[in-house]
Amino acid sequence: MSITIRKLTENIGAEITGIDITQPIDDAAFAPIFDAFNEYSVLVFHDQDFTDDQQVAFSQHFGALETTVKSNIGGGTYIADISNVDPETDEILPVDSWRIVYNSGNEMWHTDSSFKPVPALASLLSGREVPPEGAETEFGSMRAAYASLTSAEQERLEGLVAVHDFSYSRGLVDPELLDDEHKNETPPVRQAVVRVNPVNGKKGFYTGSHASHIVDWPVEEGRALLKDLVARATRPEFTYSHKWQAKDLVIWDNRCVLHRGQSWDKARYRRVMHRTTVAGDGPTA
Ligand code: OGA
Ligand code: MN
Repeated sequence: MSITIRKLTENIGAEITGIDITQPIDDAAFAPIFDAFNEYSVLVFHDQDFTDDQQVAFSQHFGALETTVKSNIGGGTYIADISNVDPETDEILPVDSWRIVYNSGNEMWHTDSSFKPVPALASLLSGREVPPEGAETEFGSMRAAYASLTSAEQERLEGLVAVHDFSYSRGLVDPELLDDEHKNETPPVRQAVVRVNPVNGKKGFYTGSHASHIVDWPVEEGRALLKDLVARATRPEFTYSHKWQAKDLVIWDNRCVLHRGQSWDKARYRRVMHRTTVAGDGPTA
């Protein structure tokens, strides 16, 4: 089996064809996929009709999987279900239901699990049912944006540590969203502001919606810097917007990529999406 890799934009994203990753593959077949992951940061596969078990099996090639947090209802141990459909009744959830409001946090630029002591390496999102319009997933390269900084700007970031806090970021959606039990599950963590890819040595900065402030800096000053970095990584030249087709699998490198979901007509269209998340290396700071 030989795969074809096609770049999607200058700075981020590649599409891979010529392989059925729903079926077991060996290490030799996985190696070029892992290389492409390190090189292009976002990988797109089409026509991958995954079951949850098959998605878990493929995802485990990247490493050990994260288990889902308590507040993620409906999935399984390894499957985060971010659908707008009730898994029990199979009906579209009311747009003001807790789950929909909770998942709308994904519409802010973020990197998955940066609020955990060991943040995520990779996320694999399978589009099982997708709306005909809206709900694109957008990606921005924190690596390409870092490379565009002046060396003085890069040096200013070196050694900085940010506090990432899920209660802070979900509080931006609705201060009442999380109860104490949920908040206590995810205490604030420290993350390096500059991270290095261990395979190719490329550096990127590391920020996103969960990043609250910078250790030893006045809160507002650190927050402003972290937001400025988000703005830089999401400039058009560093982004790729994925328009979903059913059975797409999209993989992204959470170490160096921000992502967010675009909204859609949630009262009208079903969107059934299952994510597996590969644990990374940590702590980073
Ligand atoms: C996620 C996420 C965005 C989307 O699953 O981690 O942020 O478009 N999803 O659903
Ligand atoms: Mn996410």
